[in-house]
Amino acid sequence: MRNATWFAPHPPYAAKGIGCFVEDLDGRQLLDCANNFFSLIHGHAFAPVVEAIRAAAGDGTAFGLPTEKEIALAELIRGRSPRCEQVRFCTSGTEAVMFAIKGARALTGRRALAKFEGAYHGSYDWVEVSLAPEPAAWDDESGNPASIGGSKGVPKHVLQDTVVLPWNDPDRCAAILDKQGSRLAALIIDPVPSRAGMVPVSKKTVEVIHAASEKHGFLIISDEVISFRLSYAGAHPLFGLQPDLITLGKIIGGGLPIGAVAGSARTMSVFDHTQGKPGVALGGTFSANPLAMAAGFSAMTALDEAAIARLNQLGSDLRSEINLSFIEKRIPAQVTGSGSLFRLHLTAKPIADYRSSRCGTPDALRQVHAAALEQGVLLTPNCSGAISTPMEQAHIDDLSTAITRAVADTFAVRGWDQ
Ligand SMILES: Cc1ncc(COP(=O)(O)O)c(C=O)c1O
Repeated sequence: MRNATWFAPHPPYAAKGIGCFVEDLDGRQLLDCANNFFSLIHGHAFAPVVEAIRAAAGDGTAFGLPTEKEIALAELIRGRSPRCEQVRFCTSGTEAVMFAIKGARALTGRRALAKFEGAYHGSYDWVEVSLAPEPAAWDDESGNPASIGGSKGVPKHVLQDTVVLPWNDPDRCAAILDKQGSRLAALIIDPVPSRAGMVPVSKKTVEVIHAASEKHGFLIISDEVISFRLSYAGAHPLFGLQPDLITLGKIIGGGLPIGAVAGSARTMSVFDHTQGKPGVALGGTFSANPLAMAAGFSAMTALDEAAIARLNQLGSDLRSEINLSFIEKRIPAQVTGSGSLFRLHLTAKPIADYRSSRCGTPDALRQVHAAALEQGVLLTPNCSGAISTPMEQAHIDDLSTAITRAVADTFAVRGWDQ
């Protein structure tokens, strides 16, 4: 069982998925907002994707040769953002992030990486740094965010080579980048970091990143493994971000395992193996797997501008409905998010970054998660979620009611001390 799918006393086991519902082994249908951690933008068993997988499987599931299916999906992605001139596939978002960082190192000849405190980018050692630091360890001796290992036993040099930035604090970011910029290979940013509060990046922060990258020559990696869904062209254009590399995953695989690195032909040439030894060899037995390519092509074809606009409107309506009902009922809680993504916080105080998003105890969020399950709603264990295309306004209303009730029930049991 995956780390993220277990919760006490035990999770329900999935039997099957039907549109925006998942049915457990007891036959209970849950409105699914977890969508396998934001990867199923059309919900479960979306007919065109099922058909594409069936057809692809009939032709063979994996080859030691390239297929036209990877060209089709790469061209589809390239058609969405001019920043995705070339695309290379792998099998997970973690791999995509790893390859992008290795590419940046090969291009710059530097080792260090900058990332934002609390931001999740998968399980490569460097990006796990300061993913979930405890308050006692937040600051280093100079008062900047400390580099704290994500796993036990992480080598010291990983911490020394990972610079941690405070989210949406442009002045402090500028000061840190001024000191550290010349040793950075790259700065990685998720424009709407789900684990760091799900608060979109500010314009000023983007300006600081661009200026520092220009001055010090490090690459900008926009990690859109989740946030690519926010617009037809991904998250970077929404926030004026001009990344050198973009990492993708989740929805571009239509529900099958996938990751991708995209960028300009010049930057992506670091992975080019056709002219001798590449700067970075980008491979993997199941990279660009034809089933994932076919499923992704089908899912992304159905995700046109109108579908994204509709999802974003439903997401905005949901956040407004829930926040309004918290205010009306005087419940000290709120939802943040962007487009079709949302995240619950058990405080009425403003959520600005990872630190302010640590309000309340994880225990209280676990209780809300369990209470939402009781109401027939599946959220991620940290109470975030996403809208999928099978959802209608009635589902949004049900969700809003269920989440508000789950929070109210939790506070009623715990007291109003968050
Ligand atoms: C922003 C971001 N980057 C990378 C990853 C890692 O992707 P995967 O779980 O496919 O390895 C995730 C996963 O949630 C993510 O949210």
